Amino acid sequence: MVNVIGLGYIGLPTALMLASHGVEVVGTDYNKKLVETLNAGHTTFKEDGLDELFQNALKSGIKFTTEYQKTDVYIVSVPTPYDKFSKKIDPVYVTGAVKDVLKVAPEESIIVIESTVSPGTIEKFVRPEIEEITKNKKIHLVHAPERIIPGNMVHELLHNNRTIGADNKEIGERIKKIYSSFCQGEIVVTDIKTAEMTKVVENTFRAVNIAFANELAKICRHENMDVYEIIRICNMHPRVNILQPGPGVGGHCISVDPWFLVGDYPSLAKVIDESMKTNDGMPDFVLNRIYEIMKKNNMNDISRVGLYGLTYKENVDDMRESPTLQLLESQERHLATGLKVYDPFIKKDVAKNQYHDLNQFLSDIDFIVIMVKHNEIKDNMEKLSSKIILDCHNICKLPGVYHL
Ligand SMILES: NC(=O)c1ccc[n+]([C@@H]2O[C@H](COP(=O)([O-])OP(=O)(O)OC[C@H]3O[C@@H](n4cnc5c(N)ncnc54)[C@H](O)[C@@H]3O)[C@@H](O)[C@H]2O)c1
Repeated sequence: MVNVIGLGYIGLPTALMLASHGVEVVGTDYNKKLVETLNAGHTTFKEDGLDELFQNALKSGIKFTTEYQKTDVYIVSVPTPYDKFSKKIDPVYVTGAVKDVLKVAPEESIIVIESTVSPGTIEKFVRPEIEEITKNKKIHLVHAPERIIPGNMVHELLHNNRTIGADNKEIGERIKKIYSSFCQGEIVVTDIKTAEMTKVVENTFRAVNIAFANELAKICRHENMDVYEIIRICNMHPRVNILQPGPGVGGHCISVDPWFLVGDYPSLAKVIDESMKTNDGMPDFVLNRIYEIMKKNNMNDISRVGLYGLTYKENVDDMRESPTLQLLESQERHLATGLKVYDPFIKKDVAKNQYHDLNQFLSDIDFIVIMVKHNEIKDNMEKLSSKIILDCHNICKLPGVYHL
């Protein structure tokens, strides 16, 4: 039996996927309300194919509880934030979950850390806990970082290649067999520190390349040139593949994990440091664009400006580290208020001046800033024809649109 610890964005789909493929699974989360919701037959976030997977897993007998189970394999998928000051990983959730598991874990059991961690975290923080708590009991550690992207999680769980880091090949192969129950991609078995490094490097690669596109957007703004046309032409070169600029980077991965390397290697990770600062500066850049465009249009009523989208990416309901929330915070830091905001995926009130109906939102603004390219706005573009538009994703083909 596999006990999955942490039933959030990563742990829940992983638990459901294992259960749907014949593995006996118990999902454990210390959030009582979350467990109650799952036991009442409801998923806790929106994701393509998740509800169907949930039903399959229920039929296969998956259980949800707040109790840690006595079993031979644990998969830990808890948050790994970074310390905002030192930029280093804050491993407190991972060590906390491991301590909880150790209260029941029998000799020779395997604890798989799925959470993204900085290279060396398992050796520095997790192993000492195990040695201190269990004394002579042998517990195996494995790192199996997750690569899936919100919005396409179910497909990617099935098809992505995976990395498994283990102390020895036999344990690595045992865990590989469990993931192979559903994973159709290639599964590489390596050592723990290499697995830790690969996951962080993958996200850092993305962050640095996004930062390059964002920097080009700023240079082109200065020169009043079309960054999208420039990127399009450059990408016709056989060895150039520039990403698209955007209003900032959010989510739990690309905006977080590269900081681990900056925190641990501050004198070495210079490009990464600058890239993260460039990406983090984008919401402020958008705020400044709003100011410039208002001035150009002789507009001075901020309450007639609306931000479309609160999530960190399109067609999901995940708002963590979202550029819109960063922009709203920046607005307040400048002692200003008034920007309106709307997102079809966010039903709760999370911001001032928030709307829950697109038509109402549009009728109360003259200037719309497209922060997120949800399908909804793409399907309703004609409704924006009388508005001033700042399109941060180059999705609007109406005349007179402003860009980053
Ligand atoms: N969200 C993503 O897109 C994504 C993608 C790849 C990797 N990751 C990584 O996966 C890890 C988990 O991220 P997430 O987005 O699923 O986080 P999350 O916040 O959605 O879920 C974490 C869950 O763990 C539970 N939890 C924390 N400590 C616990 C404990 N001691 N016992 C039981 N439950 C506990 C929390 O209650 C929460 O429900 C992170 O390291 C993240 O970097 C996330």
